[in-house]
Amino acid sequence: MMTSMLEPGQIIGILGGGQLGRMLAQAAAQFGFHVIIYCPDEQPPAAEVADQHICAAYHDPDALLAFAQRCDCITYEFENIPVETVALLAQHKPVWPDARALNVAQDRLTEKQFIQGLGIPVAPFVAIDTREALASALAEMGGTGILKTRRLGYDGKGQWRLDAQSDLDQIFDDTQGQALILEGLIAFERELSVIIGRGIDGQIACYDPALNVHRNHILHTSTVPAPVSADDAAHIRDIGTKISSALEYVGVLAVELFMTSDGFMVNEIAPRVHNSGHWTLDACGTSQFAQHIRAISGWPLASPTRHSDARMTNLIGNDVDKWPTLIREPDHCLHLYGKSEVKAGRKMGHVTHIMPLGTIG
Ligand SMILES: Nc1ncnc2c1ncn2[C@@H]1O[C@H](COP(=O)(O)OP(=O)(O)O)[C@@H](O)[C@H]1O
Ligand SMILES: [Mg+2]
Repeated sequence: MMTSMLEPGQIIGILGGGQLGRMLAQAAAQFGFHVIIYCPDEQPPAAEVADQHICAAYHDPDALLAFAQRCDCITYEFENIPVETVALLAQHKPVWPDARALNVAQDRLTEKQFIQGLGIPVAPFVAIDTREALASALAEMGGTGILKTRRLGYDGKGQWRLDAQSDLDQIFDDTQGQALILEGLIAFERELSVIIGRGIDGQIACYDPALNVHRNHILHTSTVPAPVSADDAAHIRDIGTKISSALEYVGVLAVELFMTSDGFMVNEIAPRVHNSGHWTLDACGTSQFAQHIRAISGWPLASPTRHSDARMTNLIGNDVDKWPTLIREPDHCLHLYGKSEVKAGRKMGHVTHIMPLGTIG
């Protein structure tokens, strides 16, 4: 099949206006594309670096139609876009990743079932509908687990760690009728992730796995290379390739993994560019953002090879005040997202310390 390619000068639409959309827009500009941001917020970070901003709700059919008419291709920067929105837009213009990928990744239950169906290990899980079901599933898991909302969770929000001391009545009330999943507690040694690009023709470009460290449930650092053997790194790439191929995915996909004494388990996937791939901006010739733009444009993918070791550190809340020090470090690549208001827990920017290959591993 001949796949059509976007040409420089054409217009890419991005649903969502956060820092991921901003870095996607910057990557699109590298290739001479124009960008329209569709986001209900006023003055979102991405709109500052884009050609246009449509400020409207994700359920506004007239605004969506106007957006689709102006764009040549559409993508999104976060996975909580309503599937109906993507389906509606797809009637008019190509939307990548498609509604299927979004559907699978939006719901922790369908996500786990899908990954398990590919023969890839995931944490034990049970869908929970009632307070009684929660108590018996927890008992079956040996008395500990993590209760999560099936949808809309991020940065540890919508999660409750459960053990024998937990007040299940209170916790069940706190979930406010949202659909739930209970997961077994995994005693992992490390958390890793891998970023995979897949082109319209099925070409795969897999970045090196990164070691991720969280603080207060928010990603703190991502380091490459991760401390895994070459065989393990190849195995992680295979997992990422299997998932993206099974979804006939187009664009960049992130896969979060647990490393346990029994091998690797997939924690979750994100149908988008990912915070744990920000190091690719400074340690690779083609970043995850540029790769995503190439993929959705029908362009061939570029090499995901790393030319440096790297450690990315998120600048959360007041961390951003360190910028005057960071700009004095010649090997620290600073990225600020242009957010005017500093809030606790808010991702304000990141800095990547690049080092010669072989420094870390
Ligand atoms: N089943 C589990 N066992 C142990 N730790 C978990 C489990 N699920 C999640 N976690 C921990 O909680 C963090 C956030 O959970 P995750 O499912 O990735 O949600 P999100 O990133 O959307 O907030 C993970 O990075 C991991 O540290
Ligand atoms: Mg996660």
